[in-house]
Amino acid sequence: MSAVLIDGKKIAEEIRSELAGKVSALRTAGVVPGLAVILVGENPASVSYVTAKEKACEEIGIQSFETRFPENVAESVLLEKIAACNRDPKVHGILVQLPLPRHIDERRVIGAIDPSKDVDGFTPINLGRMLLEEPCYIPCTPLGIIELLKRSGVPTNGARAVVVGRSNIVGKPLANLLIRKSVNATVTVCHTGTRDLAAHVKEADIVIACAGKPGLVSIDMIKPGACIIDVGVNRVPDPTKKKGYRLCGDVDFEEASKVAGWITPVPGGVGPMTITMLLSNTIDAAARISDIALQ
Ligand code: GUN
Repeated sequence: MSAVLIDGKKIAEEIRSELAGKVSALRTAGVVPGLAVILVGENPASVSYVTAKEKACEEIGIQSFETRFPENVAESVLLEKIAACNRDPKVHGILVQLPLPRHIDERRVIGAIDPSKDVDGFTPINLGRMLLEEPCYIPCTPLGIIELLKRSGVPTNGARAVVVGRSNIVGKPLANLLIRKSVNATVTVCHTGTRDLAAHVKEADIVIACAGKPGLVSIDMIKPGACIIDVGVNRVPDPTKKKGYRLCGDVDFEEASKVAGWITPVPGGVGPMTITMLLSNTIDAAARISDIALQ
């Protein structure tokens, strides 16, 4: 392996120890940061993400309030719960784990979250503010990726970045953050309609794979020395594992790490950063709502 391993777990721990001081300051001022976590159904990946988020909250001193609904919950029930969280002074952040079941209008549900408590940064108000570079909450995975690049010393000024994937949660907001002057990359967004994915990826100094497809980015596509950020979390069957599956990203890690300059592992790369940015946004929301200035 020639690539530098970007250890997301370690960087996330460093940031969490910085955040712990902010939680102490809030608690000293009589404010316990609170996050409402809403989960619908029993999608195993969603259950595991929500569990990890709640554990991280507990470890840092954020109170989490979990509500689980069955898969067949009525949309009106979900909307009532969000309205109650919007009103609850103990709740500073609201997280509705996505995806939601098909009978529920995701837009309506996300749109019901008070933007000042939208710590996922998914509401139209926060996404609009992000585009305009106004104070807002920025989606956690893209924010975590920018932080990873900065803290790993990956040069971004004038770099060619290729984002593979165009989701509302990752690809679209990430492309937008990468073109900010503070990052200053030149961005191409590839998707299922892209004619020659390899030709685009081959030009990239920074590749962000966020399509949710194992093996999407292979060694022959990678420019030597490029930085590879793998957002994919795919469960592939593996009878040698106790759980019957293993996690892998969108990138062939073993091969790619032979030519890349930097690479993130899966797990232990982007995932811990997503959770850390959620903690950070929740702490900021608690401070803003309570009118407390944090250092
Ligand atoms: N599903 C996949 N990623 C996320 C995330 O960052 N937040 C929420 N709420 N749901 C998700």
